[in-house]
Amino acid sequence: MAGQAVHPITDTVLATLSSCTDARVRQLMTALIRHLHAFAQEVQLTGEEWRKGIEFLTATGKKCDGIRQEFILLSDTLGLSIMLDEINQRDGVADSATTESSLLGPFYREGAFDEEYGANIARTEGEPTLFHGRVVDDGGEPVADALIEVWETANNGMYEGQDPDQPESNLRGRFRSGPEGEFAFRAIKPTAYPIPTDGPVGQMLLAVGRHPMRPGHVHFLIQAPGYDTLTTALYSADDPYVRSDAVFGVKSSLVVDYVRNVSREEAKKWDLSSPFFDVKRDFVLSRANA
Ligand code: BEZ
Ligand code: FE
Repeated sequence: MAGQAVHPITDTVLATLSSCTDARVRQLMTALIRHLHAFAQEVQLTGEEWRKGIEFLTATGKKCDGIRQEFILLSDTLGLSIMLDEINQRDGVADSATTESSLLGPFYREGAFDEEYGANIARTEGEPTLFHGRVVDDGGEPVADALIEVWETANNGMYEGQDPDQPESNLRGRFRSGPEGEFAFRAIKPTAYPIPTDGPVGQMLLAVGRHPMRPGHVHFLIQAPGYDTLTTALYSADDPYVRSDAVFGVKSSLVVDYVRNVSREEAKKWDLSSPFFDVKRDFVLSRANA
């Protein structure tokens, strides 16, 4: 806000921070106060509007419990989560050879079944898909024994944890990469689904005329000693929402084609019905800082 006059009230409030000894807290609070005051000035915020804002934030807090985190959903839908993701990606985005990250989301859960190479994690109906590739480092060397956790929604747009009718660990699995970094599993082509809309964030989306949909995607959480943990997802290129994700998680490098494989031989080899979709994708991990 260089060149802009600071309101005297802003100056007065900022002056109270002079006794704050933690430089980072002082920096955060200074910027927060400056931007909040500038916002109120810019829109000439009325008392009634701020009361509604407080009501909204209160309702957001009340919607949170051990499972539901409406503030994270708010951060996601305002684009703040993905902005932080970009700020904190170690080597920046554009020139890095490593796989870009994406949102973890609220539906990750520990305790999915450990699965063998090539296992089928679809315990409900869907379009059969083979996902396979390698986990490598940024020099192209294989990363063996990486823990690869995957999860996606069933055809009804719900994750297993949201839907008591789905079998345990449906469309979730924990895999280990092989000696050459290889992994493979069978699942289904993911469908688009809405983020939870039964709370204040849903009302906010409605009020501003936004849809709540995420394009079909498969989540991946990949961990290996000596490497930064990779939280990412693969998005379907032909999904109608791939350019309008409600939480802005799609990055073009994470958009994949579902290639129709018509080989009966291949289908037999993987014990899949023919034709099936084939998604081949490598993941490139970044070495952790010493
Ligand atoms: C998800 O992809 O699971 C998700 C991410 C952010 C908000 C809601 C859902
Ligand atoms: Fe998701």
